[in-house]
Amino acid sequence: MSRRSIGIVLNGVTGRMGYRQHLVRSLLAIRDDGGLPLADGTVLWPEPVLVGRNEHKLAEIAHRHGLSDWTTDLPSALARDDVEIYFDALTTDRREKAIASALEAGKHVYTEKPVATDLDGALALARAAEAAGVKVGVVADKIFLPGLVKLKRLVDSGFFGRVLSVRCEFGYWVFEGDWQSAQRPSWNYRREDGGGMVLDMFPHWHYVLEHLLGPVRAVRCTTATHIPRRFDENGEEYAATAEDAAYATFELDDGIIAQFNSSWAVRVFRDELVEFQVDGTHGSAVAGLRNCRAQRREATPRSVWNPDLPPSADQRGDWATVPDNQEFGNGFRVQWERFLRHVVSDEPFPWDLHAAARGVQLAELALRSAGEGRRIEIPELA
Ligand SMILES: NC(=O)c1ccc[n+]([C@@H]2O[C@H](COP(=O)([O-])OP(=O)(O)OC[C@H]3O[C@@H](n4cnc5c(N)ncnc54)[C@H](O)[C@@H]3O)[C@@H](O)[C@H]2O)c1
Repeated sequence: MSRRSIGIVLNGVTGRMGYRQHLVRSLLAIRDDGGLPLADGTVLWPEPVLVGRNEHKLAEIAHRHGLSDWTTDLPSALARDDVEIYFDALTTDRREKAIASALEAGKHVYTEKPVATDLDGALALARAAEAAGVKVGVVADKIFLPGLVKLKRLVDSGFFGRVLSVRCEFGYWVFEGDWQSAQRPSWNYRREDGGGMVLDMFPHWHYVLEHLLGPVRAVRCTTATHIPRRFDENGEEYAATAEDAAYATFELDDGIIAQFNSSWAVRVFRDELVEFQVDGTHGSAVAGLRNCRAQRREATPRSVWNPDLPPSADQRGDWATVPDNQEFGNGFRVQWERFLRHVVSDEPFPWDLHAAARGVQLAELALRSAGEGRRIEIPELA
């Protein structure tokens, strides 16, 4: 069995996503399992090249994981012949420039979302990638969550009949940072640093909806900055200049209405941090990160409104658990494996820069909708 190494620059590897999900849970996990087997019998062996600003942090991460290849010099890393892929998990506002430099260097690109802070930037990257003739992939991890895999299975089986609506509750309380430290980086709450709920989460909602039910045709959105002042990583108070909540309605084909509440200023009274409910003529389902429950039309109880009586029905008891029926790997790793096979074996990979640009477009138009207080139709991108 032959082994083929593939050099991968990981930029932003000291950050939450770059370190935990992409380096440790994906690329190092693939190595721990002996590499990635390809269809022709070759084993693909990722060789991470850690890139960042802080050499102490890079050296410490490299040491912790038995790696030796790290640098603070991105251009020199991109100039190396043994590096084939550039991966980006920088803060959102730095991504476009960094990816553009990787494309110029002729590298394949895999990246966190959103790919850019506006649609023009996202489309410019898509065009540059086409001109460079390289392969590109964008993280769409939610699609690989067990709960959503099971929900998609229900959609594909025709379980719902005619789908009527989707509702999504996403969010949890992000501490203000004074009496308890915030559990998310402070740049997320500053517009000037690429923060904000809409730019962060609407690209996710876009590919989830497109994958489950088809394209989003119109949006109406209201945003709020519920917590106007927060405290950063150094305990310094700052003005939250980006929205920390977004309340949106998306219109899909065939009259499907999707309502999504996304908030970092909400306390969780549900089973999971995100839940999607799909209602159809023949059945309904609620999916979280891991679980999915469903109720068929034949099992739907006859609810009768009567506020004079205390609640007696066990509403949740009437829902059936959708079984796993398969093993679920870490979603980030599953997608990495598919991207690596796309690069070396030309297997299909639909989450490209055009798909990602549609997600950025939705975020941009949702913010415009919020600013102008109106419904906005979403034009198809050429
Ligand atoms: N797919 C998902 O579920 C998911 C979840 C969270 C975040 N993200 C995305 O991942 C990206 C990173 O988010 P995070 O939460 O890991 O952020 P983070 O702040 O933890 O990490 C950001 C990284 O960028 C680097 N960086 C910051 N400023 C820099 C500068 N001036 N020059 C060079 N490097 C700089 C940091 O050193 C760090 O390595 C964001 O674009 C975010 O939208 C995706």
